[in-house]
Amino acid sequence: MRALPWHVAACIRVSRLDDAPLEDDIMRRPDTLSDVTPASPPARETIDTSRRGLLRGFGLASVGVAALAAGCSPAATQADAAPAPATPEVDKSVAIMGANESPFGPSPKAVEAMVAKAALTARYADAEGEELKKQIAAIEGVAPEQIFLANGSSPILAAFGEMIAKKGEGQLVTSIATYEGVPRAAAQYGAEVIMTPLTAEFGIDLDAMAGKVSKKTTATYVCNPNNPTGNMVDPVKLKAFAIEASKTAPCFIDEAYLDLCDDYAGNVMTGLVRDGHNVVICRTFSKIYGMAGQRLGYGIASPEMAKEMGMATRMGGVNHLGIVAAMASLADKEFVPTMRPKFKAGRERLYNVVKALGRPIASNPQASFIFFDAGMPAKEFAEKMMAEGVRVVGRSWTKYDNWSRICVGDDWEMDRCETALKKVLT
Ligand SMILES: Cc1ncc(COP(=O)(O)O)c(C=O)c1O
Repeated sequence: MRALPWHVAACIRVSRLDDAPLEDDIMRRPDTLSDVTPASPPARETIDTSRRGLLRGFGLASVGVAALAAGCSPAATQADAAPAPATPEVDKSVAIMGANESPFGPSPKAVEAMVAKAALTARYADAEGEELKKQIAAIEGVAPEQIFLANGSSPILAAFGEMIAKKGEGQLVTSIATYEGVPRAAAQYGAEVIMTPLTAEFGIDLDAMAGKVSKKTTATYVCNPNNPTGNMVDPVKLKAFAIEASKTAPCFIDEAYLDLCDDYAGNVMTGLVRDGHNVVICRTFSKIYGMAGQRLGYGIASPEMAKEMGMATRMGGVNHLGIVAAMASLADKEFVPTMRPKFKAGRERLYNVVKALGRPIASNPQASFIFFDAGMPAKEFAEKMMAEGVRVVGRSWTKYDNWSRICVGDDWEMDRCETALKKVLT
């Protein structure tokens, strides 16, 4: 990667991922924990060569925007005469394991592309967006008209929830617990939201959901792998469910974490869209691609649905560097195969630690996190973990008041988390 000119680095230092606004205040920001101080004083270490460490220091995820906002001219961002900055400081006061981000950072090729193209942020990225759609379409085996883009997948979930609310006449069928993006937007716009309980193994109960689909239903939502449980539904059952349910109303399948699972090919549901079923697939570059702070998500649907959703989600256009980074990430064929085992090792380590401590836990996690019964209210657990310097999710899910979710971290974060779990859960 080309070294950043010092004046650009100085400008972008103002933007640190640690302080970046989190996507969702309920889902991510443990507001209630702000007054809890870690037991040990913040450790400032100067050497961290991991991508995440470097990115934290450089704030590269928002390099273009921050550089411009801080007064660097686009021309300045292209200068390369000045020496590289000193190794950035890394704040290890808190292990961040609550927001399902990637601790491993984006593809170096994505970072390189963002740095190289930072000055282009003066331009809207419509043409680049069309190019990205073509590239995604080629990978997914659909037409470019079947792809729509957004600044992360959250705007897609929100737009879909609003669309299927049908001005208060709609009805969504989903499960509890699952990711709230679609159900919350649907409820906000007046839809009835039916949430069926999980199975005894904490999986989404597709039979129960199918039993609730009626003429009133305007959509179904399945998150696979599911957040917060991390487990997956049987692909044969999901296909059958989606084919049947989509005869009544669109079936939305959120595949935010699918790239992380052990068997991507056996579980991917894009074929349903190719076969003409009324199914919407949603993806994001926030998870395995490590671009949570850069924002790029996409949907795959029928041309008609993609057009309608695209109108709702691309308001003002999609961010230029997100598109640039997404294209570079897709071109980096080594990246996903390299990341997948890292997440697998991380989630298995977390699972084994919690299991050995005797806590009930959702089995077979396939995403970047585990979901388990902490034996105390989730907020209390989060506060105790924060006192040990580990941030876990600071909220609970309806019916799962004592359950918490922890996501994979960097090696030092995993070590600290393991120590903290052994202390807090025993
Ligand atoms: C299942 C699921 N879908 C969608 C999202 C939204 O992510 P983003 O808006 O960063 O694409 C998340 C975020 O954690 C998620 O867990």
